[in-house]
Amino acid sequence: MATERWSSRLGFLLATVGAAVGLGNIWRFSAVVGTNGGGAYLVPYLLAAAVCAVPLLVLELAIGRRFRTDVVSAFRSVDPAYTAFGWLVAGGVLLVLSYYLVLTGWVLGFLISWLAGSATTFAAFTAGWLPVGYFVVATALTAGVVSLGVRDGIERMANVVMPTVFVVLVALAVYAMTLPAWDRAVAFLFTPRFAVLGDLGLWSAAFGQVFFSLSVGQGIMLTYGSYVDEETDLLASSLLITVADVGAAVVAGLVIFPIVFSFGLQPTLGTELAFTTLPTAFATMPFGRVVAVAFFGLLFFAALSSAVSLLEVGVAAATNTTRLSRPRATLALTVGVFVAGVPSALSYSPLHLAVAGRPVLDVVDESVGTFALPISALLLVVAFVWVADVDAVREELGALYPLVRYLTPAVLGVVTAAKAGGVARPAWRLVVDRAGSGPTGVLVAAVVLLGFAALGWAVRDRLPDPPRRRRR
Ligand code: PFF
Repeated sequence: MATERWSSRLGFLLATVGAAVGLGNIWRFSAVVGTNGGGAYLVPYLLAAAVCAVPLLVLELAIGRRFRTDVVSAFRSVDPAYTAFGWLVAGGVLLVLSYYLVLTGWVLGFLISWLAGSATTFAAFTAGWLPVGYFVVATALTAGVVSLGVRDGIERMANVVMPTVFVVLVALAVYAMTLPAWDRAVAFLFTPRFAVLGDLGLWSAAFGQVFFSLSVGQGIMLTYGSYVDEETDLLASSLLITVADVGAAVVAGLVIFPIVFSFGLQPTLGTELAFTTLPTAFATMPFGRVVAVAFFGLLFFAALSSAVSLLEVGVAAATNTTRLSRPRATLALTVGVFVAGVPSALSYSPLHLAVAGRPVLDVVDESVGTFALPISALLLVVAFVWVADVDAVREELGALYPLVRYLTPAVLGVVTAAKAGGVARPAWRLVVDRAGSGPTGVLVAAVVLLGFAALGWAVRDRLPDPPRRRRR
């Protein structure tokens, strides 16, 4: 039972926006937009945010507040037999964290290198052991914040970090307006191309990106929702979180693409964009070092506040289900996450640790991004909307309730199947994705779908009565 609470509504909003705005908004968004043809991608992305992310955000926050507990105990409250699903969701989140901290470490490494004036490149950075060292530092910082608790750690950090992120982001966008290719970048980002809307891969990429970027469907918002007071309007809060998250991504695009175009670079390099393409521009532009430090600084802050939210999911579950104190639970989970992340860290080191010729980090990211995220979201919907049909969720969502009951699970199913079938457009590591998953993808999709069928069979007796009339 969560007894801790956010100290204020602003604290809650900054913490949740901090959880949402991360590497996904700044780095991954620009990568996915760049490779998917700019504005072509924006229509499905915004639609996905509105119809899928907002209802799911409300769902998670409402469950957290209703049960006042972590994701594992919330699943157990529905039925003790579901406890395992709770651990599955929490485990998925900790797996994301294991490589997210590696990426956070890269960002920290680039920040320090540009601060010191050595202006490293990705090739030089990963040629040594620094990626592993910075992984250790990023992990320790994240654990330090979480061990201090909800108010004294997470909220206090968010109070400092999030305003800084937004101020720096806007300042960089103002700078980008002075660049020669500003107009071209705006056109690239905002000219929709309706002809490509028939492309299932584009839709799949957009929905995937929204789940990743908004930290939704992973039990993260559920955990943060367990610390929110009774009076807070969850629908209004969810809209605000979504607007802030989408806004951060779009403004980041307005920083990155003017730089890319003004210096004659390509927008289509995907993940390389932040670590190879942009540093090339930083090295030649006026005030390049200041811009680089601002960029990597804000990226690091955004990543840290997201990493903290990922770890909190596990720590909240561990403190509620064991006798461990918060500091001890944090330590135990951090060690586990660190060990799980070592292979990912080593895959971009002189060791070049790989599975079937691909860096471990890419493999973990691809499988987590493709399967763990949508499956976790589906489990949440099945347990808390279909099986338990939690009243609080109906009340908070009002007229939007059918979205989370019918539309979200349908969309999640289609997106997962499309990705598994290899239809999907590039995601995190584009070069790897382009290789396509072919027959393996189809096989995995079949297994996943059979899994869901089995799940449906297992819960057939528990399916709820037809929707009750909404309570006022
Ligand atoms: N939403 C954050 C980001 O966009 O970086 C953090 C995050 C949460 C990433 C959950 C991935 C994830 F599965």
